[in-house]
Amino acid sequence: MTLLRLGVLASGSGSNLQAILDACAAKAIPAQVAVVIANLPDAGALERGRAAGVPAVLVPHQGVPREQYDALLVDQLRRNQVELVCLAGFMRLLSPVFLQAFQNNILNIHPSLLPAFPGLHAVRQALAAGVRVSGCTVHVVDEGTDTGPVLVQAAVPVLDDDDEDTLSARILAQEHRCYPRAIGLWAEGRYSIEGRRVRVRGAAGDPARTLAAPELSG
Ligand code: GAR
Repeated sequence: MTLLRLGVLASGSGSNLQAILDACAAKAIPAQVAVVIANLPDAGALERGRAAGVPAVLVPHQGVPREQYDALLVDQLRRNQVELVCLAGFMRLLSPVFLQAFQNNILNIHPSLLPAFPGLHAVRQALAAGVRVSGCTVHVVDEGTDTGPVLVQAAVPVLDDDDEDTLSARILAQEHRCYPRAIGLWAEGRYSIEGRRVRVRGAAGDPARTLAAPELSG
């Protein structure tokens, strides 16, 4: 079977990258990570990529104009014949140079139930707003910030004694379920985008796109 070639971009520890690598290794999704790219030298994602035998490339952003930087990213992704770009904690906005190069073939994960709490510090925003349920979203990237069509979401309850760390940790655990699932749907090509809605064909379609943390299903 041909495996979908993924390029994973990260700035941090890379736990979502790890979930994707694990799902690929377990053959749970018909995909392989072709390259890992980080913009920060101490991003744990680079080490995780190397440990899995995947090319891991540091592309530092300091002092590089945004469009020039994005062209460097595109070059690395093309060199590795990437078909689907997965932003996994990549804390940079992408310019039209990047978006046009991989139009409709870029996914992002965000730690809130979008369209609530886009942008930075989503978990802090959710706590400050006093919501009882938050979660995470995998969406197709468009030109806005965290605005693209939603592919998979998971709901996570906010507990009375939650702080940013405890809620982030429970949301992250759900992110690790959502990202491989979204990539699997994408790889199988059973989706279509109609305006802001993503439709998935087949029996495993819609139920597989809406997850709940165990605390919510009791
Ligand atoms: C994740 O919580 C992801 O949702 C978030 O960064 C974290 C990366 O964790 N992304 C954003 O906030 C993007 N706006 P990881 O490095 O362990 O995968």
